Amino acid sequence: MKILGIESTCDETGISVVEDGLRIISNIVSSSVNMHKKYGGVVPEVAAREQIKVIIPAIDQALGSLKPADIDAIAVSYGPGLVGSLLVGVETAKALSVIWNKPLYRVNHLQGHLYSCFLGTKTNPKFPLLALIVSGGHTDLVFSKSHGHVKLLGSTLDDACGEAFDKVARVIGLHYPGGPDIEKLASTYDSNRPAVKFPRPMIVGDNFNFSFSGIKSSVVNFWNKSDKSDSVKAEIAYSFQEAAIDVLISKTKSAFAKFEAKNILVGGGVAANSKLREKMFNVFGDTVIFPTKVLSVDNGAMIASAAFFVGKKSSPLKINANPSLHF
Ligand code: KG4
Ligand code: ZN
Repeated sequence: MKILGIESTCDETGISVVEDGLRIISNIVSSSVNMHKKYGGVVPEVAAREQIKVIIPAIDQALGSLKPADIDAIAVSYGPGLVGSLLVGVETAKALSVIWNKPLYRVNHLQGHLYSCFLGTKTNPKFPLLALIVSGGHTDLVFSKSHGHVKLLGSTLDDACGEAFDKVARVIGLHYPGGPDIEKLASTYDSNRPAVKFPRPMIVGDNFNFSFSGIKSSVVNFWNKSDKSDSVKAEIAYSFQEAAIDVLISKTKSAFAKFEAKNILVGGGVAANSKLREKMFNVFGDTVIFPTKVLSVDNGAMIASAAFFVGKKSSPLKINANPSLHF
């Protein structure tokens, strides 16, 4: 079964054709990230306007030599996300479903990140599993016994992990999105040198919730009192990344001790972070599964895959964008 997946929840327009939920035939991602760099975050209207321009050419490109007759269904990420961006994807999917006379599946974007771990990985994830979804808008720890079953164990109470990377980057003068730049700068810091230790909020306790705004405030205080030199920037990038990763690993460890899971999946933009990958593999070994770096950030393939396993068939006349959708 070939599904055309459409992803447009934030600044990316991701279009992909995936066969039987696992085999990627094409994966096109067009991003407006460069237009947002100077603003330190995504400007919603700019993102949506760009998506209107690129979505049809991206669909053409993803189809390649395939004809609409070769596609069995259309899948769209209908939330959570920015309302203008979501509307572009959802309305395009509805129109295609009607014109091509194909079934339409709606997919929760967060489920998409979970299913990114099923794509192109050597190990097939096994249930029951834990999934840590760390993106720019969400930080969720979930337990799943089977396709379609999801128990939300905990979420961030304030900033999402990726959002904290973005905010810290902005404070020290790096570009949006902050994650890749923080990671790069952190890698220049000699880990044998003493470094400031930022707090690890909520690291102890018997719940699985997260908090990242406290780390961010400590960064701001430290930065304001510093000489704002390049070496301070590198120290902050390194120490912030260490603190954020410690929190993610410690919460995952507690959940793994309580819930019997065969695999731990890590998805969302922050899953592209090499330090997080290295430390997760050190702690959990082969149990942990990451998507490729390309599939960690938003893309249409994860939406097509999630649609195959857990998508909800919807009437094109009834499906609506839902900006505040959650697990
Ligand atoms: O999943 P995603 O593409 O979009 C959302 O669903 O939000 O995640 C984007 C987030 C941004 O906050 C970005 O800074 C972060 O993922 N990110 C990273 C890295 N690459 C992207 N965070 C840490 N390290 C990275 N290498
Ligand atoms: Zn995402």
